[in-house]
Amino acid sequence: MGGKRALLSSRCMRFDIVTIFPGYFESVFTQGIVRRAQAERLVEIRLHDLRDFTHDRHRTVDDRPFGGGEGMVLKPEPLAEALASLGIYPMTPRAPTTSGAQAQSAPPRVILLSAQGRVFTQALARELAGLEQVVLICGRYEGVDERINELYCDMELSIGDYVLSGGEPAAAVVVDATMRLIPGVLGNEASGEFESFGVADAEIDVDVEGVPRSQHGAGGLLDYPHYTRPAEFGELRAPEVLMNGDHAQIRRWRREQQLKKTLKNRPDLLERAALSTEDRKMLKALLEANN
Ligand code: ADE
Repeated sequence: MGGKRALLSSRCMRFDIVTIFPGYFESVFTQGIVRRAQAERLVEIRLHDLRDFTHDRHRTVDDRPFGGGEGMVLKPEPLAEALASLGIYPMTPRAPTTSGAQAQSAPPRVILLSAQGRVFTQALARELAGLEQVVLICGRYEGVDERINELYCDMELSIGDYVLSGGEPAAAVVVDATMRLIPGVLGNEASGEFESFGVADAEIDVDVEGVPRSQHGAGGLLDYPHYTRPAEFGELRAPEVLMNGDHAQIRRWRREQQLKKTLKNRPDLLERAALSTEDRKMLKALLEANN
């Protein structure tokens, strides 16, 4: 592989994942878009087995919590050694945590995956996609010795308000959501921006292959429903409006569906969404129909 797309973008983003279960990632990073992005050298993913940084016969990575309590805590020394192997020390200058262009050879962003972190969002995925290197530390057991967080981490990140048994699934989620926003990774450069949580219509400029871009503009709303052949599936027929070729009507229908789905599943998003006058009219009608 390699191909045209790689030639268009010289940038390769690197993820380093520190984990006690490197095998966990064997399937997730060897399929689909993540596999292709690596083959095309747009993304490099390096796995670091925390046990390789231990020095005892049992390759011990955890210990009982000071003060007592349930479970085990990841010890600081193997993590510090793993980070040192990546050239990361407590005094390494830290990258800024706000959005913005990254200078060449900016320091890596060090992220601790934990249920106590700030919640991962599309906006943060976009921010990470602009960086050269992201280091993801997968927490385990009851947690990670807090001094690692204090000394090395730019942020603690959670993928949602639930508790996983470790940071590995979260690391896979962060890599997936981030790498697909790297220029050249998706076949259609634009599509990553146009799904649920994508940029507002106002930020989208011209047409993609003759189709008005605003047709896909999510504007912080959930995506509209999609249909494909067959037109009849059991009792259900795909919406007629999508088959009549009237693009203005399709656009309106899709926008209304976005509003409808967002109202039903994520009404909280409507407060922050970029809504046009027409959107507000449609929303009002939807709310009235619900009452
Ligand atoms: N580790 C345990 N739960 C987690 C979560 N929700 N997100 C990230 N890492 C975690």
